[in-house]
Amino acid sequence: MHATPEGSWPEGFAERLARALGPEEAARALAAQAAPARVAFRASGLRATPEAALAAVRTDGLEPEPVAGLEGVWTVPAADRGRLTHGRAAAEGLIYVQNPSSVAAVEALDPRPGEAVLDLCAAPGGKTLLLAERVGERGEVSAVEAVRARFHRMRANLARHGAAGRVRCFLADGTRVWRRVEGRFDRVLVDAPCSAEARIRPGDAATSRHWSPRKVAEMARKQRRLLEAGLRSLRPGGVLVYCTCTYAPEENEAVLSWLLARHPGLEVEAVRVPAPRTRPGLAAWEDNTFPEAVTRAVRILPDGLWEGFFLCRLRRP
Ligand SMILES: C[S@@+](CC[C@H](N)C(=O)[O-])C[C@H]1O[C@@H](n2cnc3c(N)ncnc32)[C@H](O)[C@@H]1O
Repeated sequence: MHATPEGSWPEGFAERLARALGPEEAARALAAQAAPARVAFRASGLRATPEAALAAVRTDGLEPEPVAGLEGVWTVPAADRGRLTHGRAAAEGLIYVQNPSSVAAVEALDPRPGEAVLDLCAAPGGKTLLLAERVGERGEVSAVEAVRARFHRMRANLARHGAAGRVRCFLADGTRVWRRVEGRFDRVLVDAPCSAEARIRPGDAATSRHWSPRKVAEMARKQRRLLEAGLRSLRPGGVLVYCTCTYAPEENEAVLSWLLARHPGLEVEAVRVPAPRTRPGLAAWEDNTFPEAVTRAVRILPDGLWEGFFLCRLRRP
């Protein structure tokens, strides 16, 4: 373990972050990550209008504040988390507790009514639910999850929020499903399994138990395979969003760089993320220089509300 003013982090983690972001930015990120974060939620669109959801949260005794730049997302202070998650609005499925960074990933994918969307790493289904709301009744969402317990949790979650009949759920390895659906989807979300560095909290061993440089390398390998599968499932001209909740450049930029080298003509499109603290994808890491297109990816830096995140939007030629 490595001690900083915010507490103890896993050995090697804080040093790597300082090398990736620079010492000042890394220290700010660690301080934000260590502090209790505000809790964000949105109206669960198949169950409630934003007005009805807000009214229900207010009857639970809470006074939510809107998140600037993200329509339909509000927050309450960290101390009110229990009241929000155990209140009537949550129990009746009128709201969905979701970090703004997760909402931003779906906004970056920008699914339209009537489209076919594939969510390749879907449980517990927070982004799947928002995708279902966006494509509407004429659209189609397929959600793939490889871990059985998480798959069942996702199904229950979708049912509670009125999306059971709107999403086709598959308990399957996302690296393999493309064989049956090659070129079929308008949009694909790869919200990849990752080393989850942005969720590490000092003093909470459960959040860092699985972290190690080896884990980072293992996750990068998984992500490459899932992205290959995601691209194959996409129709020509279709859009894929790749995102993680980790800082490690071996995942994120290095994976994106690898994908670009294998797919000439694959475009990285600019995305606007309304978080207060963002930075472009890294231009280099250790001995590797990345292609310029990689800097069109966005890193969201934690600020006490927005969770640390990496996302990029790709268009298949
Ligand atoms: C970051 S989480 C997804 C969170 C989810 N998109 C949400 O917003 O609620 C990544 C998920 O991918 C799943 N996963 C890991 N490997 C997979 C694979 N080969 N195929 C499909 N899912 C996989 C993990 O079990 C985990 O549930």
